[in-house]
Amino acid sequence: MLRGAREREGRSPAARWLQLATVAADGTPRVRTLVFRGWAEASVLDLLSDGRSAKAAELRQQPAVELCWLLPRARCQFRLRGQRLVLPADVEQQQRQRHWQSLKPSGRALWGWPAPGAALAAAEEFPTELSDEVPLPEPFELLRIDLEQVELLELRDHPHQRRRWCRSNEWSEKRLNP
Ligand SMILES: Cc1cc2nc3c(=O)[nH]c(=O)nc-3n(C[C@H](O)[C@H](O)[C@H](O)COP(=O)(O)O)c2cc1C
Repeated sequence: MLRGAREREGRSPAARWLQLATVAADGTPRVRTLVFRGWAEASVLDLLSDGRSAKAAELRQQPAVELCWLLPRARCQFRLRGQRLVLPADVEQQQRQRHWQSLKPSGRALWGWPAPGAALAAAEEFPTELSDEVPLPEPFELLRIDLEQVELLELRDHPHQRRRWCRSNEWSEKRLNP
């Protein structure tokens, strides 16, 4: 259903944008937009981030996340709950390398920038591209999210449709009030 909703968005880059919510060390929520980078398994998805960012520290303390994915053409919202997976070191390295190679030089550039969220300093450089020859940077972080629950809200019909699937329930569908 998610694939179908994404297809309705056509070639819009926004069809790959989702919001990642985490919990900060003081227990308060944080949310930001990330690009969906593909499915590792049927209910495991990949995101890419910077290991120097606030979210990286938050996830080390609290690996539970919620993702919110709005597909406006299909008029639906997916809410995905899960955990950031800790991968065996060799798998993580191989998967980071695979994602790094799949990025365009302009897409890689961000990982050549100074630490995200740090104070802007006059002398620092922000490259526009990192070529294929640039080795995998240390801060290039794979966030692999193992999904435990999916909720879909569809606004197309009256009344709105809301359903939930839980892994603990063999992904069987439960219909809810919208
Ligand atoms: C459309 C869009 C796509 C983004 N994609 C990513 C992404 O794939 N990975 C990422 O780390 N940050 C991405 N960002 C930046 C994040 O939203 C955020 O500003 C940054 O990761 C720092 O977040 P943090 O301080 O909470 O760690 C994107 C921002 C926008 C507006």
